[in-house]
Amino acid sequence: MEIFSNVKEISNIIAAIKAQQFSIGFVPTMGALHKGHLALVEKAMANNDKVFVSVFVNPTQFNNTDDLNKYPRNLEKDIAQLESISKEILVFAPTVHEMYEGNTTAQQFDFDGLENEMEGKFRKGHFNGVGTIVKRLFEIVKPDNAYFGEKDFQQLQIIKKLVEKYHIPVNVVGCKIEREFNGLAMSSRNARLTDSQKREAPFIYKTLKTAKTLFGTKSANQVSKWVNNQFENNKILTLEYFNISEVDSLKEMKRKSENKKYRAFIAVYAGDIRLIDNIALN
Ligand code: PAF
Repeated sequence: MEIFSNVKEISNIIAAIKAQQFSIGFVPTMGALHKGHLALVEKAMANNDKVFVSVFVNPTQFNNTDDLNKYPRNLEKDIAQLESISKEILVFAPTVHEMYEGNTTAQQFDFDGLENEMEGKFRKGHFNGVGTIVKRLFEIVKPDNAYFGEKDFQQLQIIKKLVEKYHIPVNVVGCKIEREFNGLAMSSRNARLTDSQKREAPFIYKTLKTAKTLFGTKSANQVSKWVNNQFENNKILTLEYFNISEVDSLKEMKRKSENKKYRAFIAVYAGDIRLIDNIALN
């Protein structure tokens, strides 16, 4: 398996691939790969001639240094997992210096307000960091198709907006959430859960599924109240937010409109570990 850490080196390979008119599929990751990432890689493999996976823990998208420091890192294990899919996958694992060239700051973006909803309220500057690194990665890898999981649905919508605003010629493909057998959305952060947190965490998706059923007959307000009540007496999980939002604007739903699509979004803390999830409602 070929592993690159240098922009110049990888740019030469990409130029050669482009010259042969091969299509490039790209899966950007922060490592700590799990089955959710591997599903994205498999999709990319099925639909492109060449596949790149980046492994880079991006410092500018962490609004909490503790979260950045504790973020799980294990490049060897990541590579072994990718190799189990195919030795043809090309891995890009740069250093912070390589990506930021000595200036580790985020560009400021206007994503037409998408960045101010939900995660944007609780993780100040997070989407500037995501936008900065994804734009830079797209400029380096020049993919035809890039794959992102719907677990980070707000991120997915923001990346679509980034591509539209900067006229970046890449097809952004959203992929369904991969879940553990018990419904917990797969996430690199799950590896940090204690046994009791792990036992309790499936409650998040269970609550989302019931919220979806309630959405059929109740108002958004009533559903939100019900969800808040569910978490009130939970000693292990603390609700940060629950939102029912329209999928394009991500604005909180005020009144149901028949021709609009809605999703319920949730962020929960288990100790200092932040878990997010979402579900399509209609
Ligand atoms: O979703 C992630 O893992 C990250 O936000 C991404 C898209 C790789 C950017 O660092």
